[in-house]
Amino acid sequence: DVGRRQRLLDAHKIAGEFFREQLLTPAATTARQFLAERGFERSAADHFGVGFSPQGWDSLLKHLSAKGFTHEELKLTGMFSESSSGASQNRIYDRFRGRLMWPIRDIAGDTVGFGARKLFEDDQGPKYLNTPETQLYKKSQVLYGIDLAKRNIASKRQLVVVEGYTDVMACHLAGVDTAVATCGTAFGAEHIKVARRLLSDDGSGGEVVFTFDGDAAGQKAALKAFDEDQRFVAQTFVAVEPSGADPCELRQRGGDEAVHSLIRSRRPLFEFAIRSTLAKFDLSTVEGRVSGLRASAPVVAAIRDGSTRMGYSQALAGWLGIADPNEVLRAVKGA
Ligand code: GTP
Ligand code: MN
Ligand code: MN
Ligand code: MN
Ligand code: MN
Repeated sequence: DVGRRQRLLDAHKIAGEFFREQLLTPAATTARQFLAERGFERSAADHFGVGFSPQGWDSLLKHLSAKGFTHEELKLTGMFSESSSGASQNRIYDRFRGRLMWPIRDIAGDTVGFGARKLFEDDQGPKYLNTPETQLYKKSQVLYGIDLAKRNIASKRQLVVVEGYTDVMACHLAGVDTAVATCGTAFGAEHIKVARRLLSDDGSGGEVVFTFDGDAAGQKAALKAFDEDQRFVAQTFVAVEPSGADPCELRQRGGDEAVHSLIRSRRPLFEFAIRSTLAKFDLSTVEGRVSGLRASAPVVAAIRDGSTRMGYSQALAGWLGIADPNEVLRAVKGA
């Protein structure tokens, strides 16, 4: 209901302000060092609302309770964990402790959840922790940065998808202000819907550029996007830095220009899918070329549009150094 939703939004707003204040305290020295090392100045942290969650078990719990939020409301925010056993059964405690905090905002700019990065190597728990599914936070739809990027996406008719919170920050600071990220989940069909609506009224225009840090997970994500939706494939591109660096690392090393250069290096999704398959083989040998053709033929065969499939069959012959394109066409037909 509307009243409940507003209460949850209020709790998130207050929590975000609390985390931001905590970032200024002596306990947050490591957090501020992390930001500085990443090339994020105070103004950048402010712009993105970055904060710090204290180490204790009940800092946020006390803060929000003092503001009048009930135990029941707090449980629904996803910002607390619940003890499941013993004398402390049903007690709740802060989910995010000793972490750098990014508010995740919806398209209207309201905070609906948090992404949290661990700062101390020997701390328990995963490197990143997110709000779990709540009435406000749906991970299959949420795109970090969408509130800041939406106007730029519409005017530039481009959407850049990066992997992490720090990558969104780096891109925006570098002037690639159309960047968004999923939050610890793959870019799926629901994200595509949100994105297409912003790119154009009928969803047919504009380009989507995926960047991945070049590891196996990134490649898999790109190939998943390929399966997801071939209607828009002509407007779907991939940019991967050969060294595997992500946009945040690129900006640390090479400044804003390195981020722009990554986006400029984008290649059509099909080309990326085929060439990253070929990259696993030594194409200087006959055996390597035969194996490369065998492995890449199914990728080409999966292209639904006939002329595009034909075009890539010919391109594949070129990339393999095979003089007779019919050889590739036969392999694709038989795949
Ligand atoms: P940084 O050191 O923070 O730059 O991380 P990274 O560049 O190594 O992050 P990576 O490329 O592995 O992850 C990018 C994004 O994936 C993060 O911003 C998170 O949203 C998500 N992610 C990474 N690791 C985890 C994890 O352990 N749990 C969850 N839920 N999400 C993760
Ligand atoms: Mn990665
Ligand atoms: Mn990683
Ligand atoms: Mn990174
Ligand atoms: Mn990364």
